[in-house]
Amino acid sequence: MHDFSRQVIVITGGARGIGLTIARLFGAAQATVVLIDLNEEAVQQALDYLKDDGCKAYAYVGNVTDAKGMEELFATIVKQHGKIDTLINNAGITRDNLLLRMKEEEWQMVLDINLKGTFICTQKAFRHMMKARKGSIINIASVIGLMGNAGQSNYAASKGGMIAFTKSCAKEFASRNIRVNAIAPGFIETDMTATLSDEVRSSYGKAIPLGKMGSPEDVAKLCMFLASEDSAYITGQTIAVDGGLTMH
Ligand SMILES: NC(=O)c1ccc[n+]([C@@H]2O[C@H](COP(=O)([O-])OP(=O)(O)OC[C@H]3O[C@@H](n4cnc5c(N)ncnc54)[C@H](O)[C@@H]3O)[C@@H](O)[C@H]2O)c1
Repeated sequence: MHDFSRQVIVITGGARGIGLTIARLFGAAQATVVLIDLNEEAVQQALDYLKDDGCKAYAYVGNVTDAKGMEELFATIVKQHGKIDTLINNAGITRDNLLLRMKEEEWQMVLDINLKGTFICTQKAFRHMMKARKGSIINIASVIGLMGNAGQSNYAASKGGMIAFTKSCAKEFASRNIRVNAIAPGFIETDMTATLSDEVRSSYGKAIPLGKMGSPEDVAKLCMFLASEDSAYITGQTIAVDGGLTMH
């Protein structure tokens, strides 16, 4: 296991699901983990859970779409913990609907949280990372951003946008020794996918070469690699964690 004992890892949407598992694994590797999440109750529960697990964990209630709030929050994190080594842009939502029925609010909300939120947090973290001339930014995109999905045009546009954003930031930040990569999870067992019907699950199962859904740990382990010096020569990439669903 990597030793992250001197590292500060900031995870948006870290109060549950994939984000909370990422926090737990980094915490077990001695990192200082800082969660930012909208859901106040989930934030408190996550903090209690991580502390009970022996993690050095801190959590803030915040909305990634609130640029001013994030600017203050990132400044507070740096003041309190000295630096940010890794930012994981994980906060994300779905509001599925067929295009003809999609309401403008459903489109806008998904683009705002998934894509604009990633822009805002990346910009705020970059300001601090560039002074340290070191950092890793990991954007949790989705295979839907690579291959599209009926009923998810808003989500696909947001995640495809995150992938393009990742490449541009990787080019812009490389000279500062800051790497930016994206992870494209496939179908992972979390609250977000808990509502899928058995029929949908079984059809996905057939389409996935490894024949099963992934776990949040599968995504978290790749985050640990991308945050570590073992991936020092990797930037601008989108790596799928999808049981082979997307192959090029
Ligand atoms: N579960 C999957 O199968 C899957 C697949 C591909 C990609 N992803 C992506 O992984 C990420 C995490 O997914 P998950 O399944 O753990 O979701 P989840 O719904 O379980 O957790 C998302 C977290 O983000 C928080 N959040 C939502 N809006 C926010 C905002 N504006 N500001 C701050 N926090 C906010 C929520 O409160 C929640 O705690 C998302 O970006 C999602 O798109 C998930």
